[in-house]
Amino acid sequence: MKNKKIGILTSGGDCGGLNAAVRSIFYRAKNKYNMDVFGIQDGTAGLMKKPVAAIRLNHKIFGGYLLRQGGTFLGSTNKGNPFKFPTTDGKFADKSKEIIEGYHSMNLDGLIIIGGDGSMQILKKLAKEGNMKIVAIPKTIDNDVGATESSIGFHTAVDVATQALDNLQSTAASHRRSMILEVMGRDAGHIALNAGIAGGADVILIPEINYSIMGIIKKLNSMKKQDIQHSLIVVAEAVKKENGARVLHKYIDGEQRLGGIGDYIAKELMKKTDVECRVTTLGHVQRGAPPTASDRILASAFGVYAVDLINQKKFDRMVAWRDRRVVDVPIEEGIRTYKNVERKDSLVETALSLDIYLGDNV
Ligand code: F6P
Repeated sequence: MKNKKIGILTSGGDCGGLNAAVRSIFYRAKNKYNMDVFGIQDGTAGLMKKPVAAIRLNHKIFGGYLLRQGGTFLGSTNKGNPFKFPTTDGKFADKSKEIIEGYHSMNLDGLIIIGGDGSMQILKKLAKEGNMKIVAIPKTIDNDVGATESSIGFHTAVDVATQALDNLQSTAASHRRSMILEVMGRDAGHIALNAGIAGGADVILIPEINYSIMGIIKKLNSMKKQDIQHSLIVVAEAVKKENGARVLHKYIDGEQRLGGIGDYIAKELMKKTDVECRVTTLGHVQRGAPPTASDRILASAFGVYAVDLINQKKFDRMVAWRDRRVVDVPIEEGIRTYKNVERKDSLVETALSLDIYLGDNV
C-alpha cells in the first residue's frame, strides 16, 4: 500500500516552539504511521509557487539544534491575505485558487497548519472552498485563542519579558529610576500580566483595564513613602493614551504597527513628577527566543495529536490544551473564542493582592 502523505505549514507571526511542533509531527507521522512528511515553505506563499515550495522531511533534519531554536525553519508570513493579496502595482488579487491548486498538486492525505486565529480563519475558508483536509495547531505569543488554555509561543514570550524585568530591576535600583518595559500581545494583555507578576512589576498596564497617569503617580508616591525610589512598569503595546488614542509607530514602508506607548507613559510621568524614566521596547525578541521547556512540551504534544487526527481522517479540527491534556475542537471554535484578560481572571486578583497598580477602578 502506498504511504500516506501529509504536509505541514507554519503561518502568521513566528514564535518559540514552532520547530518543536514540526519535529513532533514528523516523528509521529513517520515512526507510527510510516507517512511521508513535507514541510511547505513560507506558509501559504509556498503553496502558491509552481511547483509548490516544499521539502521532504527526514530524521537528519531534526538531529541537531532545531528543537531548541526559536522561529520556524520552514519560514512563515503574516502578510497578504490570499483572498486579497497585494500585487506589485498596488492593487489586490484573489490568490486563493493558486493555493488550492498547489495543495491538490501535492496529493496530500492531510495538511497540518500551525497558526493563530487569523491564519486559521484564512485556512478554514480556503479548506472549505477548495476541499482541503486540514487540522490546526494553535500558536501565538498573544495567547488569545480562547479554545485552548495555552498556545505555542506564549510561555516563551512571558519568559523573555520576565527575564527583561529581572535585568531591569537592578539597573532601576542602582539609578533610582522607573523602568518602563513595553511588551507585545496585540489587543490582549496576557504577556504583560503574566510577566509583570513573575517579574515583580509595580505597575502593569493592559488594554483591558483603564488606567490614569495620576493613578500611576499615586502608586509611585506610595512606594516613595516606603523609601522605595525605583520601580518597574510593564505596559502592553495596545494600551491607549489617557485620551483613548491608540499609539502607532509608522514604519518606513508606510505601515503602521502598535508601538510607542512606553514612551508616552514615560513622557507623561516625567512631565508631572521628578521621576526619571527609561523605556525598553522588547519587540521581536519575545518571538525569536529559544522556546522554554513548557513550549517545547506543548508543541510536541500538539504535534502527536494532530497527526493522529489526520490518520483518523478527523479534519477541520484544532488541537487544544485543556485540563492537563490535549483534546480537539472544531477549528471554528478556535477562531471564534477570542480570549483577552477579564476582571474575573485569577491573575488579575493575584496582581492586585501583590500591590500592583492595574488601574483606578479595578
Ligand atoms: O501576534 C503576534 C505579534 O507578535 C503581536 O504581539 C505583535 O503586535 C505583532 O505580532 C507584530 O507583528 P510583526 O511581526 O508584523 O511586526
